[in-house]
Parts: sequence; C-alpha cells; structure tokens
Amino acid sequence: MQTVSRLIEYFVPKHYTLSLTLGRENRTFSGTVSIEGISTDKARKIGLHAKDLVIDSVLFDGKNADFTQNDQDELFITHKDLAAGEHVIVLSFSGEITDPMHGLYPCYFEHDGIKKQLLATQFESHHAREVFPCIDEPEAKATYDVTLTTETGVTVLGNMPVKLQREEDGQLVTSFETTPRMSTYLLAFVVGEMHKKSATTKSGVEVNVWATLAQSSNSLDFALDIATRTIDFFDEYFDTPYPLPKSDNVALPDFSSAAMENWGLVTYREVALLADPKTTSLANKHQAATIIAHELSHQWFGNLVTMKWWNDLWLNESFANIMEYVAVDALHPEWDIWLDHASYEVPSALRRDSLLGIQSIQTDVNHPDEIGALFDPSIVYAKGGRTIRMLETYIGKDAFRKGLRLYFQKFAYQNTQASDLWDCLSEASGQDIGLFMHSWISQSGYPVVHVSQAGTEVTLMQEQFFIGPNETSDKLWPIPLNSTCSEMPNILNEKQRTVTRHHDTPLRFNTGGTAHFITHYSPEILAQILGSLDQLSDIDRMQLLHEQTLLAQAGILSSAELIGLLNFYRDETVEAVWGIMAIAINELKRFVETDLKAEKKLRQFVGELAKRQFDRLGWDVIEGEPEADTKLRSLIISLMLYSEQQDIVSEAVRRYETTPINNLDPEIRTSLMSAAVRYATDQKIIDALLAEHKKTSSSELQEDIASALTSTKDPAVIDRLIGLFKDTSVIRPQDFPRWFVWLLRNRYGRTIVWQWTRDNWDWIEDLYRGDSHFDAIPRYIASSLITPAQLAEYTAFFTPLKKLPALKRNIEIGIGELTGKVELTERDGPAVRKALLEL
Ligand code: BES
Ligand code: ZN
Repeated sequence: MQTVSRLIEYFVPKHYTLSLTLGRENRTFSGTVSIEGISTDKARKIGLHAKDLVIDSVLFDGKNADFTQNDQDELFITHKDLAAGEHVIVLSFSGEITDPMHGLYPCYFEHDGIKKQLLATQFESHHAREVFPCIDEPEAKATYDVTLTTETGVTVLGNMPVKLQREEDGQLVTSFETTPRMSTYLLAFVVGEMHKKSATTKSGVEVNVWATLAQSSNSLDFALDIATRTIDFFDEYFDTPYPLPKSDNVALPDFSSAAMENWGLVTYREVALLADPKTTSLANKHQAATIIAHELSHQWFGNLVTMKWWNDLWLNESFANIMEYVAVDALHPEWDIWLDHASYEVPSALRRDSLLGIQSIQTDVNHPDEIGALFDPSIVYAKGGRTIRMLETYIGKDAFRKGLRLYFQKFAYQNTQASDLWDCLSEASGQDIGLFMHSWISQSGYPVVHVSQAGTEVTLMQEQFFIGPNETSDKLWPIPLNSTCSEMPNILNEKQRTVTRHHDTPLRFNTGGTAHFITHYSPEILAQILGSLDQLSDIDRMQLLHEQTLLAQAGILSSAELIGLLNFYRDETVEAVWGIMAIAINELKRFVETDLKAEKKLRQFVGELAKRQFDRLGWDVIEGEPEADTKLRSLIISLMLYSEQQDIVSEAVRRYETTPINNLDPEIRTSLMSAAVRYATDQKIIDALLAEHKKTSSSELQEDIASALTSTKDPAVIDRLIGLFKDTSVIRPQDFPRWFVWLLRNRYGRTIVWQWTRDNWDWIEDLYRGDSHFDAIPRYIASSLITPAQLAEYTAFFTPLKKLPALKRNIEIGIGELTGKVELTERDGPAVRKALLEL
C-alpha cells in the first residue's frame, strides 16, 4: 500500500515570497516563488509539492539546480552544495486556470446582462500545490508575502490587508502584508468585481462581507451582523484575540463545499452567506449563521492552532462543528439552536456510526486521495462535535473553557495532536481526559445500553450498536450515563453492571442527549417513560423517539411499533420534535412503497397526526407568532401534502398559481412549488420554474426550485431533468450533486437516475475525481437504493471501483448499508403493513 510521504522531513520552510500573474482572459497564470527554509540532514534533496504546474527554472541558493518530478505531485531538487542548514530556493512556473473548483478557478456570474467572472482559490485539503510549488502539509507552517498582478478595475483580496497597490503597464499589482505563520491550505485570494459592507468588532477588527454585483447590497447585512458578533463572542470565549487585522467573508457564485475557513478570507457559497430580508427562510438564516460561526471558529481552531497531520482533522472540524452551536446560541438564544443540533447532527451521527466499517473520528491516512473522504459529515463533524460536547458536559463548562484557553496560549501559531489538547483539558479539570476520550475518538461505532429491571435490581449492559451487517465486538466505552436516578453510576465502564434502585420515578439515561450512546429500555421501563412524556424536555422527547427508530432499524424492536409511538406524540408543538417524527415517518415509508393500500393508510395516518398543528397554524404567518411556529408550519404543511387530501393539495396549487414566485412565502414555497409540479398535467409549470431558475440570482430560490422539480412523478419530466445534468448553463457543477441526489431519492426517479449513473460514470469521475466531495457519490447512492436487485447492481457496479482510494471505504459501507435495508424491509414489512391496515 502506497503511503503519503512527508516532505517536511527534508526541508522546513520558514518564509515564502510568492508573486503570481493571473491571466483570466487566456486562463493561465505564471509566477515565481522564493522559499527560505532549513534543510535537514536526512537526505541530500529538497522535496516540494507541485501539481499540474510547468516548472521553468529552479535556483538553489542562486544557482541553477536539477529537479525531478513524480506522479505523486512531488518535485525533488538536488544540488551538489545541498547540506543541512538554511537555504533559499526560487522557482518560476506557470499553470492553467481550469473549471474544477479547487486550486485557482473561475466563478461565473451575470450582471446587467453581461457575463462576468471572479477568480478564486480553494486549497484545502491539498490544492495549494496546483497554484505554486510548496510543502503542502499542514505542519509546514511559514509566513507569506504575496503579490498578485491582475487586470485593473477589480477588487483583490488576500489573507492579509493590502500593503501596496499600483497600476503598472495596464495591470494592477497588489501586494499584501506579511501573514502570520500558517499552513498552505489556508492561503487564499479572490479577484473580481464585488461590493461589500463593513463593520468593526469591539476590539477593532475590520469585518467585511463581499458578494458579486449580481447580489443586492441588503442581502449582506445579516451575515455582517453575525460575523462581527461571532468574532466578538470568540474573542471572549477563547480569551485569545482574533489573530488578524481583518476578516473578509466572500460569497462566491461557484463553490464546491458550503464554506472554507481561509485565514482572514473566508469563502462561502452564496446560499451559505447571503440572506435577503424578504425572501430568505428562517431555516436558511439559521443555517447561514451556523456556517459563519463554524468558519470563524476555525480562525482559532484550525488556523491559529492546526493539526499536525490529517489523521487529526477532527481537531479542526469536530470543534468547529460544536462551536457553531455554542456561538449561535449566544448570539440568538431565542432560536433554541441546540434543538437544531438534536434534530440534525445527532441523528446523522447515530445513523452513520452504526454501520460496519465506518471510520473512527481519528483516522489514519494512507493515500493522499483518502484525505477527502476523511471529511465525513456524520463522523468527523457530527460525531466528533458530539463527543466534544459530551466531554464538556462531563468536566463542566468552566473547566472546558479554561482548558481551551490554555491550549491557545500554549500552541498559538503551532501544530498539535490529540494528546496536546487532552493535556490542557486534564490540567484544567484535574482529570485524565486522554483516558476518557481515547476510546471515543479512536474506536468506530458507539454503544447501546440495555436497561432492564427485576424487583429493585437494575441491570445495565453495554455493547456496540449496529444497524445491518455486524461483527462480534468487544469494544467498551466509558459511558457518562447522565441518568435521572441518582443511584445510577456516573460512568459505565464495564460491560455489565447491576445496581439496586429504591426510587420508582421513570428511569432515563443520557438526559439532555449530550453523550454518544443510545438506550434500549425494557418494555416496562419504556411504558413508564411514555406515560409521562409531557414531563420530558424537548431534547429528551426527541431523543426517546429517535432511539426507538434506530432500535427498530437494528431489529431490536419491530418497526411496526413506531406507529404506536408516533401516536404518543400527537399533541407535539415543537418543530424540532416534529423533525424527529418526520424521520420516524420516513422510516415507515419504505415498507409501503409497493403496497398501495398500506401506503394510503400511512398517508391518512400522517395527515391525522399533523392535523392538530395544521388547524392551529394554518397556511399563513400569524402576526407576532414565535419563529418556531413559523418553522413548524412549513414542516406540517409538507406532511399534510404527503397525506394527499384533496383540499390541501388544491389549496397549495392555487397559492402557487395565484402568486408570483418572488412573492411566495419563503417558508412554504418549496412545498407549494412541489405540489404544483407533482400534480401538473403538462410541462408548463416545469417550463416556468426552469425559466425562473435561470433568471433569478438567488441561489436559495434556485435550490427551492430544484427541490420542487426533482419531486416530480412524471417520467417525461424526469428524463428532461436528467438531460440537464450536463448543461452547466442550467445546473452549475456545484449544484449537480443536489439535483442528482434529490432525483435519486424520488422513488419515481430512482431507477432511471441509477441507470444514468452507471451509463455516465466516466463523466462523473472526470468532473469530481479531484473534488473532496467525490466520496459522497457512492454514499448518496447507497442511501437512496432499496431493493435486493439494486443491492446486487450496486455491488456489481461499485466493487471494481474500490480500486479508487477515495471511494473504497464508502463503497464497502454502502454495500453493508444497503444489505441492512433490504433485510429490514423483508423482516419488518409484513408487520408494518398489517399494523397500518388495522388502523
Ligand atoms: N474546512 C471545511 C471546508 C472543506 C471541506 C474543505 C472539505 C475541503 C474539504 C469547512 O470548514 C467546512 O467544514 N465546511 C462545511 C460547512 C460547515 C458549516 C459544516 C462544508 O462546506 O460542508
Ligand atoms: Zn470546518
């Protein structure tokens, strides 16, 4: 097995002087880089990373030097005078500007009918090497002097403020202040016509929000407020000032991820930053706020202190994941953002971490192409964030913050590994944190605690929880039980333990839902808890239902029991709890796809369940209502539409038909447009929505339109949409994945899109092979297919593709996930259908 070599072992860079000339029009760039650093005596060569660059010359201490390149992006320089000690290497090089959204790439937009471009960069995880030769490893921190030569009449942004800008021979030359010591993957620049809004933090940091001229200036205000106050918050929370003089936040029209934390120059998808006061939904605002908070938290966690190597990526992403919620909760306590955490992150972590072969939070990297797949949103983000929160609950908020402050004081501008963080947290808490955390971050999976009671004896037993294929596992975790009963131990370390209990109040575990385990209560204990459901907190009600859903998927309960459980939640009024109810309902849907009668019953059941809230909320926002109700209305209406009641469907279609798209209530417009699409009798609505999609500069509206169109039942429309997959004038490459997955998840589109995928695999691979989200493709497909025949097709098609290191793990997990689903459908299908028909 090929492993990644570390070039920092040959040469430790200290300072880069980088000059780049960007030829946007002819799609090329050229540059020189001078790297000062120290050669180790390990080998008489210096290694740099360079990819798709033409190297014109290499100087070693001012003298011409020889170099060789290999197919692992490595460039080795040799010279007879090369010995341990300080050296300067100077390279001149050139490259091409290409469309894939990494390295240096163009973003396309249109303003006042004129087609325009920005140039932007995306270097994480290892794409700096596509723009200049460098030691492209997080540990190789250095300072940078960057100069960019560009066309005139544009804004030029870099990590640092502009030091000097002048016009020379009809070009604009911009040089920036020297950066602090930093990793290559955090360098960035953006060039083009943009406008901005600015504010200043309490400590005097300049905060700017930028967008292309196609975006209205009032859509920048929301982000500006959040960004400024988030920096104020972290200044205080980490007790370490924001490390740079400015923070630029830029909305890019083409962007592969949601956002990227480049130091001082954070880049975002437009939908992740901009919020139009009139047409942005609450859910989108909340999401933008958490994304901004995530990236800004990286300015400390990740940028100021950086993981030594990618195996500790979680030091970046798990922290940023949890800091999103900590910061947004401080900024907008009325949003109850922890409920979003419980309805989004927690289910994502628990579902995926139950699969055989899943990665642990801390994972070795053996091949550079595996780095992208490390960024598993359910593991390195959701599970990692959750285990950090578990630790915070375990040692207390104060000790936790104290430990983080120590960490920043000790390691600012340096690199760390897990033990460095544990040491600081141990010092702050007086406990052995490494001992507590090790099994959570280095073992994949999580435990289920089986709880039963005989007389006064309560037995607790932990074992690894699997959905689908499993293996015998002797893993153990130190589980913080957070029980309602003071007689229970704080931590369950051992496999099994029996405790005597003298109380008879309902016995629950993991109250507040902060620890990464689930509980399987005996039927008697569960009945007792359900009997006093209304006394549970919102989060605990969510947790209880979600746990039963997981237990059903694992075959520990029958999925048919979910129907009765949902009945207990009939009077529920909290949106996030309804979010979990919707997960349970979705679980039931798979069993009725091929049984029209049972499906009709399920639709009816869901309509009855949602009716009480629908009667309370209606179609229109009620003045002065809590925002939570506004969010709930949107979910309830979508459930009512699922019920297919004629009056509901007609009203949705009527509203769509009588309101211009731009005036549709953003909270429910996706439901209204979807209803119009699903019940359309010809393609007029499709034409109109596609025209609107083309016309609007709002990526949020585009997303809602995509969601509506891909909900069609009409095979002709499905064919038409698939025909657009490769048309980048309609579907930007950044948006292709969502059109693709949404249509794949649509039961009427599933088979056709799956066939299309196999027929067009070469195109997909060409487009996404270099993208860090490439590994998502087999993951999306496994989560969408369901039949035994599809399992066989998936296995046959993807098995040979396991040769791609980026896909290998997700293919193996995908086969397991699908196997589990097929078994579940066979196992529980008859009982679920019977229960529905008996309703
Ligand atoms: N550092 C990542 C962006 C990234 C991801 C770069 C994968 C390269 C490969 C950034 O901080 C991030 O986590 N972005 C998330 C959004 C976040 C709010 C969950 C993303 O883009 O999905
Ligand atoms: Zn991140």
